[in-house]
Amino acid sequence: MSVALAKARSTAFEAINGTEEGGFLDAVLNGLSLPQKAIPSRFFYDKRGSELFEDITRLKAYYPTRSELEIFDIRGEEIAALVPDAEAMVEFGSGSSRKIRAILKALTHLRLYAPIDISPEMLAAEAKALSADFPDLKVVPIHADFMSPVQLPAEIRGTKRLAFFPGSTIGNLEPHEAFQFLQRVRDVVGSSGHLLIGVDRKKDEATLVRAYDDPEGVTGAFNLNLLVRANRELGADFDLERFAHEARYNADHGRIEMHLKSLADQRVTIGDRHFDFRADETIHTENSYKYTPDEFHLLARAARFEPVRSWTDSASRFGVYLLQNQG
Ligand code: TRP
Repeated sequence: MSVALAKARSTAFEAINGTEEGGFLDAVLNGLSLPQKAIPSRFFYDKRGSELFEDITRLKAYYPTRSELEIFDIRGEEIAALVPDAEAMVEFGSGSSRKIRAILKALTHLRLYAPIDISPEMLAAEAKALSADFPDLKVVPIHADFMSPVQLPAEIRGTKRLAFFPGSTIGNLEPHEAFQFLQRVRDVVGSSGHLLIGVDRKKDEATLVRAYDDPEGVTGAFNLNLLVRANRELGADFDLERFAHEARYNADHGRIEMHLKSLADQRVTIGDRHFDFRADETIHTENSYKYTPDEFHLLARAARFEPVRSWTDSASRFGVYLLQNQG
């Protein structure tokens, strides 16, 4: 593929993969009308999708979760000693609480924890469970989309703040969105505030691809669940036997791409719309950008965050970075 064409394609993907509100139907109809068909990844997370995602994080092939937890376990006290003044932790897109627990165990001087999440159910359940296990910690849930400007409650605004963004979720953003996101985090933590962020590293292609195409087929089921959901919610007629999960490493962009590949020439119908697929044509569903430590430091500095220290796991697969707001 030519560079110009690759750029045009990735721009089309970005155009429909933003976080702006929009229904599933519109997103699917628009996405399937693009030259490179696409469905935005935010629609992965229905009930089944969220369960499958939790299963992915426990797979042997999916090293990022394990590697990051290893870093928090081993380096927790070292991290805590670098942020001795932090009073409140603000987590972006909290979701499951395994990681926050690992780091809260070490950050014993925190008084407040403010998870920001789009799902009110998740927030309430997590707040309850954490309060039970960390009785001295005040949990202040914030129901918001962390990609939009967030209004902090007064009790958080008046504190020294540390933001937490684990899971290499930053890699699911386009680089220019990641840059904008970091600037928003700077507003949230305030002057001299810190960000503790987990970012997956570039590595050999086989390890990367395996993490997104596990032999158990869980990531495949997670990806294909988008079509299951379209059939159920939109009355689409995707034939699940004739689409397959595909994970590929795009070395030019430094990212894993997830696709759903058509196994035959076929037509899919949604209401009064038809979409024709050629054999091997794909629907692009997600990107996961990988950053070398140098690349991530460059991105952080461009967004006026100064790297304080960084850590990796015993296999040097994953990166955790402590950054400080220079703005
Ligand atoms: N941000 C993580 C990653 O890119 C988790 C993730 C998001 C993920 N979407 C995914 C993992 C789809 C597997 C498949 O690795």
